[in-house]
This record gives sequence, structure tokens and C-alpha cells, in this order.
Amino acid sequence: MVVYSPHKVILFGEHAVVYGYPALSATVDLFAKVYLIPSRSGLQYTPFVQRTLSYLGLSNVYVKVETNVPSGSGLGTSSMIITGIIMSERDYTKEKLAREAFNIEYETQGLGSPIDTSTITAGGFVLTNGKEGVPLWKIEKNGMSWSFSSIPTRNVEMVVVYSGSKGSTREQVAKVRKFYERGSLAKDIMKRIGNITEEGVRAVTKGDLAKIGELMNENHSELKVFGISTDQIEKIVSIGREFGYGAKLTGAGGGGAVIIIPKDKEKLLKKLKELDVMLFDTSTTSAGIFKRSE
Ligand code: MEV
Repeated sequence: MVVYSPHKVILFGEHAVVYGYPALSATVDLFAKVYLIPSRSGLQYTPFVQRTLSYLGLSNVYVKVETNVPSGSGLGTSSMIITGIIMSERDYTKEKLAREAFNIEYETQGLGSPIDTSTITAGGFVLTNGKEGVPLWKIEKNGMSWSFSSIPTRNVEMVVVYSGSKGSTREQVAKVRKFYERGSLAKDIMKRIGNITEEGVRAVTKGDLAKIGELMNENHSELKVFGISTDQIEKIVSIGREFGYGAKLTGAGGGGAVIIIPKDKEKLLKKLKELDVMLFDTSTTSAGIFKRSE
């Protein structure tokens, strides 16, 4: 049995979602294959994998993950692996899978929101803490609550660019938290990001690429204030703004990936290749995680 686990992007609202503001995310047409293979004892696991295997009462398995996307790219790799391992062993409902995967991620990381695990599980465009869409489920943790809904709409073409350096979600979320606890500046930024997300949902529903791009640019500028962008991310974003409808970092930042809505795709790809970065010419997909026998 092989589990196909999709990478995810956040179009609007990363970091703000940790504090309960709305966010819009989607799965993209880039899947990792996750297999569990019986193995000898003594294997070294990452903390995420170790905790997932303990949850399932498993030992002596080799967790094989095949994807072209580097880990630490902000495209959901750890959530995909946790969710993928659970799905290979259990036939949970999507809601239970999303909930259990988030618990494991949260216990390992000690912070964060369930946006990645819920998006990978549900597939398509997923709205966190918004009013629109088809309700999916609600997840609560430490007095915080996140409700998820599915936004059924056309897929959006997207160029996903890896900046070449990894970002640590734990470090970046902790960095933003310091800002958030210090005063009203960060809270105002989060509120504005929440408003951008709400407008973003309308733009995505209409398939208005120019508006989606404009809002991504705005969201990126807000995120930059937290010091979570890098020089290379800025270079990629400025190419994205010139030859696309808009661009922004996606995920926790501090490295990781940029998403661009292409306009003049040929020129965009040419310019990006000159930067010698790893890129994925892809689109959002309606598929969430699934398994099948190979
Ligand atoms: C990570 O993909 C998104 C963040 O908002 C963290 C989280 O929500 O867990 C940065």
C-alpha cells in the first residue's frame, strides 16, 4: 500500500492563523509517496516520525518518503509524513486523521496551528476560520480553536520556488510570537492579514488572478515586517511581481519557498532559472491525501 500525500501552500494568512485569524491554503499537484517497509531494529527517526510510530505502536519499520521537494521548504513535508504514516496503518475518517496528525505535530513541535495537517487531509482550497465554503471540521487546542471549510473552485496555476535554504517552523513561529506578545503592531498586522485572506477567498472563488496576485503582494509585505523573509526570497518575489500577477513567501519563512501566480510564464521561468533555484511549475489540486496499492 502506498500513500500519496500532497504538498500544501498557504496563499494567505500564515502566522496569523496561529492566533485564530483566517487563512487560505491549498494542496498542490506535487505528491510525496509514503511507504512503510518492515526493517531491522536500530533505525534513526526524526522526532515527528518517532512520535507517529509510537502513536501507532510500531517499531522496526523503515519510513520511505519519495518527493522532489526538499524538507524545510514550507510546503508541509512534516505534516505530510505524519499524516501519510497514519493513513498507511489506519482507516480513519478524514476528520479523525486531521485531528490525530495535528496532535502528533503539536506535541512534537510545541506550537503551531492545524492548517497544514487539515489542508493535506482535506485537499483543494481550505479556509481556516472563515465564513465561506462547505464546513469540514473544527480543532481545538490550548484554548485556541480553528474551524475548517472547503472552498470548491477552479484550480490556480502556480510556480513554487524553493529559495535554497530551509526554514524552521518552530523558530519562525517563536520569533513572530515574541513580536505578538510585545505590543499592538503585530496584532494590527495580523488583523490586516486576516482581512487580506477574506478578500483573497472572494478573488479565488471568482478566479480573479490579478486580484489574487495583488493580495499576495500585500500579504508578503506584511509578513516581511516580522523579519521572516531572506535576501533570496526577496529576489524571487521581485521576479514574481514583474512576470507574474503576484508573489509571496509561503509557510513559516526564514527560508523555504515562494509562490508566484504566473502571467508571462515563459519569461518568468527564464528569469528564475537565471537565479539557479529549484522550481516547480504546478497548480493547486482538488486532491487530498489518498492511498492505493501499487
Ligand atoms: C506553517 O505552514 C504555517 C504557520 O502559520 C505555522 C502554523 O500555522 O502552524 C507559520
